[in-house]
Parts: sequence; structure tokens; C-alpha cells
Amino acid sequence: MDLIDLRNVSDLTGIDINMVDTNTLAPEMEPNRQLYFMAKSREYVKRKSEELGRNLTVHITTFGCQMNAKDSEKLLGILEKIGYEETDDEKAADFLIMNTCTVRENANQKVYGHLGMYQSRKKKAPHRMIAICGCMMQEPEVIEKLKKSYRFVDLIFGTHNIFKLAELVSLCLEERLEELEAQGREDKKPKHKMVVDVWKDTDQIVEDLPVERKYSFKSGVNIMFGCNNFCSYCIVPYVRGRERSRRPGEIIGEIKNLVEDGVVEVMLLGQNVNSYGKGLDEPLNFAELLEEVEKIEGLERIRFMTSHPKDLSDELIEVMAKSKKICRHLHLPLQSGSSRILKAMNRRYTKEQYLALAEKIKTAIPDISLTTDIIVGFPGETEEDFQETLDVVRKVRFDSAFTFIYSKRTGTPAAAMENQVPEDVVKNRFDRLLKEVQDISAEVCGRDVHTVQTVLVEEVNDHSPELVTGRMSNNTIVHFPGDASLIGKLVDVYLEESKGFYYMGRLNQ
Ligand code: 5AD
Ligand code: SF4
Repeated sequence: MDLIDLRNVSDLTGIDINMVDTNTLAPEMEPNRQLYFMAKSREYVKRKSEELGRNLTVHITTFGCQMNAKDSEKLLGILEKIGYEETDDEKAADFLIMNTCTVRENANQKVYGHLGMYQSRKKKAPHRMIAICGCMMQEPEVIEKLKKSYRFVDLIFGTHNIFKLAELVSLCLEERLEELEAQGREDKKPKHKMVVDVWKDTDQIVEDLPVERKYSFKSGVNIMFGCNNFCSYCIVPYVRGRERSRRPGEIIGEIKNLVEDGVVEVMLLGQNVNSYGKGLDEPLNFAELLEEVEKIEGLERIRFMTSHPKDLSDELIEVMAKSKKICRHLHLPLQSGSSRILKAMNRRYTKEQYLALAEKIKTAIPDISLTTDIIVGFPGETEEDFQETLDVVRKVRFDSAFTFIYSKRTGTPAAAMENQVPEDVVKNRFDRLLKEVQDISAEVCGRDVHTVQTVLVEEVNDHSPELVTGRMSNNTIVHFPGDASLIGKLVDVYLEESKGFYYMGRLNQ
């Protein structure tokens, strides 16, 4: 059979990667170009596996949000195509990847800690490859530091070019492959080069590459990338670039394929899903996109993340209220309850507007679960401002809230603000906020006790193997007796007991 020259191929479905001709020049067009490099890198993985007498393994450590989790699934999909096998054993992996987050300073610290451990791993087995990617790599100071003090890293890339992973890996492996081909084995200490490819921004969206999903029955689906909001504390717009929406046809097509593959729940992902659709050739807003997704047969549940209060439309509330598939959960980041601080944060809503919006949502969708993000200690925050935040927490009564201590991010407007709040004051406020949030949450979360709720079963319980764990539409966790055969199924569960943040239940047959 003839080898396939990818430069002449327009439809990649059904292409056997073993048949790709890697002696031609690489195709210019994506995603053909990446498939070509997958085939090329695969040659190294095959030969090295033969040399070692076992499969090569990869371990990905993911920090941060759902977007990063989704990106890691894409990375793994590509690497499995190349021939790597995923392993949980970080100590033994042949390829170590860290997908980083930089939203708060402590996320950065963790990465450097991890790198120290990677260095000693590499000393033990020099063929090990080490890659770092994700949001932190979009910061020039980080790249400088890595280039200077962490020379053992093989590959550094950013958030805009993860689709290029196969090509970058192929660059790292080029000389190693030559060695293997020349002498049938790799030198004890293979030639090392550091490949760095970080793009400032992009308008390119390359999908249609392999993805290795963590769960067979649920999946994240990117609907947009980047953020244009520039909240004054936030680094995301600088590291994830300008807002770009994916075309509706592509999103719907991807979801249909997922459903065919057994997925029953999707999470539509974007930094600000409520502004979906701007700049598309055929305009479609987020509410309209949801209506299209709802029509997909076989899809049972729709979630989305994250909503910005300033862009949440009445149309969206209406669509949610009448939907049979959109889950009864809305994550609506508050950040602060003080209108003065909200202005300094560039959030573009006031305390009163947020409260009115929360009220409107609860009235239209009484069984909705509202969750939020709150930052304490933003520059200039006074005790009075903080009291305003507590006031909103008490009035809205969130099901749960992620609470964060303000973290100064270099390059953001807030980092240059003078009146930073002293650490002990912030810590004290943080503790008071957490207590308030938890007390309310324990009361609110128990409201469905002694009712029957539909639960999507996700896994066998880690601690008690006779139990399975699943989620209600409003995202609350339920544990109940069952076995692995229930995973991925939607079942009716009677909620026997509320434990504050979760329920204990039993199958309702
Ligand atoms: N400091 C603390 N928290 C932050 N977040 C974003 N930037 C910062 C920062 N500099 C929080 C916000 C956001 C969540 C994802 O992270 O609350 O909603
Ligand atoms: Fe950051 Fe604000 Fe964009 Fe969210 S909306 S990613 S907080 S800039």
C-alpha cells in the first residue's frame, strides 16, 4: 500500500498515522501539518520503546481552571497518538509536562517547586523529557527565569499554540531519533536543546486534533478563547489574549460527535461565555447558541462557565428557565460587594445591579444554585467595603463561594495601586468571609433533602468502594450505594441525608 502524502489530503477522517509519509516536506496547512509531525515523533517513540523494552509514558500535571483541564486533554490526545501511554506515576514517567496557571502568585510558586523535583528525575534518567506550558509561560519574566536557571527543561510553549505540540515535540526529538537510527540506541545522555515557542496572541483556532477525554460521559467544549474585560486585578487577558468565538457550526459538530461517542453532559467553556458571538460572520449570541445545543438529540445536560454579570442577558435567563437540559447551576463571580471597589476592579456593575440580577435569576429559576468567586483585600478595600461584601453574601445566600486573597499580578493596573491592604488585615477578613460563606452554604445546600433528584454517576467513591458519587443538576454531590456499572448513567436518587456540602442517598427504583 502507498504511503499517504498529507500535503494532498483534505479530509483527515480515517487516516492511519502509521501510513503517513514522513519523508516528504511537512504540509503547510493545519491540522495536516500536526498529523505529519505526530507520525514523525511516533518513529522516535517506537524505537525508544524497542530499546527500553517497554512503552514510553507521559504524566501531565495540570494547575488552574477548566480551560487548562481541557487543554491538558488535548495535549494527552496528541501524545497518545504519538505513542506515549498515560501514567499516574509521576516519578517514573518518560515525559513530564506541567500545564501552568498564573492567576494567583501561589500557583507560580508551586511550579518552581515541581521543577526542582523534575530536575532530580532527569539526573536519574537523562532521556526524560520535560515540558512546561500554559498561562505562566505567557509572562516574559518567567521565560527569562526558566532560560537562565532551568536549562534542563526541553520544551516551553504557551497558551496560543498547544495545537502545535506534535511539531514542537518533533523538534525536541529530531537529534535523538537520528541517534537511534544510526546506532540502534540512544546515548546515555542524549543531546539536549531547549525549544521555546511562545506566541503573544493569535487569531488562529485549530481544533480537529485528537483529544483524550478524562471522562467518557462528560466533556468540556471550548466555545471561545481569551478575554477582553481587563478586570484590573486579573492577568488572564494578558496571557490568554483577545476574545475569539468559535463558529457555532464547529461547536455543534463537536458536541454531536461527542454524543455519538457516549457523552451525555457538556460544559461550554469560555472566560466570559455571556459575550459569546461577537465578531462572528453570522452573528449568534450565547442564549441562541444554547438553544441550538439544546436541540442535539442524545445530549442530556448542558453546563457552562464562566458568566460575567455585566453581560448576562434577560434572553439567557429565559432560555435557561424553559430549558430541559441546561443545568440548574449558575456561577456568577461577584468579586466584591462594594460598588466603589467594583469600579476600581473595572467590573462594570454595582452592588445594587448584582443584587437585582441575582434576584431576577432566582425568581425566574427558583431551583437554581448560585455560586460565586470573591476576592478580599483588593487595594484600597476598607472594613466598610468588606462589610458590603458580607452583606451581598448574606442577601444572595450562595450555594458555595470560592474565596481568594487578592494576589498582586505584575503588569495589571491593580498591581500599581498604592493602597495595598496589610496582610494581617486581609487574612482576618478572609477568615470572617469564609465562615459566613460556609455557614450559609451548609444551610442552603441541604434544601433538597428527602426529595428524589436525577444524578449523573461519575465514579466509584475513593474511600468507600461500595458507594458511587455523582452530581445533581445543580452540581451538588451525592454519594449512594452502587457499583461501576452505573458510571455515566443518569439515575434517580432519593436524598436521605444532607451533610452540608453533599448528600447521602439511595437509588430510587
Ligand atoms: N488575585 C486573587 N484572585 C484573583 N482572581 C483572578 N485574579 C486574581 C487575583 N489577582 C480570581 C477571581 C476569578 C477567579 C478565577 O480567580 O475571583 O473569578
Ligand atoms: Fe479575568 Fe475579568 Fe476576564 Fe474573568 S472577566 S478572566 S476576572 S479579566
